[in-house]
Amino acid sequence: MPSEQSPLFYPDLALSKNAYVSSSAEYQQMYKKSIENPEEFWGEIARQFHWETPIDSDKFFRYNFDLTKGPIFNKWLDGATTNISYNLLDRNIRNGHGDKIAYYWEGNHPDDYSRLTYKKLLEEVCRFANVLKSLGVNKGDRVAIYMPMILEAVITLLACTRIGAVHSLVFAGFSSDSFAERITDCEARIIVTADGVWRGEKLLQLKSICDQAMAKCAQEGHNVQHCIVVSHLERVTSPSGSQRHSNRTPMTEGRDIWWQDVVPQASTSCYPEWMQAEDPLFMLYTSGSTGKPKGVLHTTAGYLLYAATTFKYVFDYKLNDVYWCTADIGWITGHSYVVYGPLANAATSVLFEGTPFYPDNDRFWAVIDKYKVTQFYTAPTAIRALMKFGEQIVKKHDLSTLKVMGSVGEPINPEAWLWYYKVVGHEKASIVDTFWQTETGGHVLTTLPGALPMKPGAAGFPFFGVQPVLLDENGKEIKGEGEGYLVFSRPWPGLMRTLYGSHDRYEVTYFSKFPGYYCTGDGARRDADGYLWVTGRVDDMLNVSGHLMSTAEIESVLTEHEHVSEAAVVAKPHPVKGECLYCFITLSEQGTYNEALLKELKTHVRERIGPFAQPDVIQNAPALPKTRSGKIMRRILRKVAVNDREVGDISTLAETGVVEQLFAMRPPNA
Ligand code: WT7
Repeated sequence: MPSEQSPLFYPDLALSKNAYVSSSAEYQQMYKKSIENPEEFWGEIARQFHWETPIDSDKFFRYNFDLTKGPIFNKWLDGATTNISYNLLDRNIRNGHGDKIAYYWEGNHPDDYSRLTYKKLLEEVCRFANVLKSLGVNKGDRVAIYMPMILEAVITLLACTRIGAVHSLVFAGFSSDSFAERITDCEARIIVTADGVWRGEKLLQLKSICDQAMAKCAQEGHNVQHCIVVSHLERVTSPSGSQRHSNRTPMTEGRDIWWQDVVPQASTSCYPEWMQAEDPLFMLYTSGSTGKPKGVLHTTAGYLLYAATTFKYVFDYKLNDVYWCTADIGWITGHSYVVYGPLANAATSVLFEGTPFYPDNDRFWAVIDKYKVTQFYTAPTAIRALMKFGEQIVKKHDLSTLKVMGSVGEPINPEAWLWYYKVVGHEKASIVDTFWQTETGGHVLTTLPGALPMKPGAAGFPFFGVQPVLLDENGKEIKGEGEGYLVFSRPWPGLMRTLYGSHDRYEVTYFSKFPGYYCTGDGARRDADGYLWVTGRVDDMLNVSGHLMSTAEIESVLTEHEHVSEAAVVAKPHPVKGECLYCFITLSEQGTYNEALLKELKTHVRERIGPFAQPDVIQNAPALPKTRSGKIMRRILRKVAVNDREVGDISTLAETGVVEQLFAMRPPNA
């Protein structure tokens, strides 16, 4: 565990000098204002955006975080109206950025690339918005999206916001079952997808996954009316060479529509739907500890302000910079920091379809070099994977343009941090270790790149408007140094408003453990210098390569197999993925623990959830360690997973022999 004695790394002087926030004192002063006078702090920011109905200062922000006092709510700029696509596009064009590049698109294959200006992006957004309207999509309707990293994905999100439809994007790595569950939950009648996409040398047939999902929805009594399909494979280079993929995607007459058949002839103007500040903007599913995914709901005005402001200050984005976030658009990072934050700041971004390993393991560095990227945002798991290929492959490329480099998704280990800092950033670029969640809408803990010294492994300090508190098990505040539950004592504009269709679950999940606080589910430690170090989840959640999932979710999928009578899943540390899945299964009488069964179970998890959830280890467990009341003692299973016999106190175990048996039965490769 890194300690507070770890060295401080100061921002490069030139970077500091030109930064929006140049010193610790300046950060403190702005932070103080954001806490003491949120109306003024956020009001000044809000004035840079367009409000069709002006902001009512009496209703600037209201909330209740205390369940004992009534329902939880959190409202910002209530009564004002605006349109997000108008602010991201029309407003920037009026300000003279029409010919500025919004996105450089870089395909999976280096021969494929294109670009889109703000003006052209607005035209395409309007075209697709008109198509959606013509298909009967109205304000408030949900549109489910299953798309790769292509320009049409951004266009689709913004087209939804143009007409006030609520987008629900599902990461195109989820299985058809997972997608179906999410379509049905939000009752989306329209799906937008692409025929397929190459990821490295692998072809993903997205449309067939959608077909399976739609069939599944129909079984549940939910009929999808239309599926709009971008014809993508024909226009890109396949890994085998220059020959194009011929389009053999099956289309269902009357239901499925090729994007290219309807979008080009649609009108390039579409009057924006003026939305209430608290109207839903989008929903995004995240794993819940009970297994059923939670539809995190974000609304219009607050999310806009927060995505825009965090993007500006955390990446210190300046007008001629080229910013690149590698996150998939299917995750919140893709929403806030590929789409909304950058566009709200008239930024130029790179949108990358491929993987870090194709055609070679230096693709990230090649792309930074190609576009002269100034801000780069990626995940610790990617950094750890790329470290393995050594420094030479990085040094082949000119990365001297980098000023700020971000990390997100899980705690970054100091070794990976130092490599990122030294080898990629030449000890010149600042690292921002951004802690946040799907629920928080944007960064909540980080250092600002020109203002605050960095500590490898520490997230740092609260962003403007955010008030973190550490609590002990009894809900008592830990002041100064210490470790406890990471909670927040007041809202900021970007915090989620509810879980779609389930406000009760929202209140219980986030606000019932400690009345008066939003509970993150993470633990954190505050060091003597006030830096916050996020120590990881304190609930039954695991984080595999930055993908959050719940143990319950995987367990219920494993027990669907007829020969598995019980399953328990724990996280095991993994050198690249951060954590991996270590599963214990108890078989039924008929079951036999053999290669065939393990293969079946792994395939089943991939099919039910997605490839990223595949277990690394599945161990045979004739019995699980349980308390007398029947609760599985996961603490012990975590010890078995890492083969650590220091299991601690086992006096509450119903049967003590179980522990020895589990150690004896660890698979040889585990
Ligand atoms: C969980 C949220 C936020 C976008 C990506 C994940 C972990 C995220 C960090 C960080 C330590 C981090 C937390 C959090 N996490 N960033 N910089 N340091 N932990 O979004 O899927 O909602 O996951 O990811 O455990 O609760 P998400």
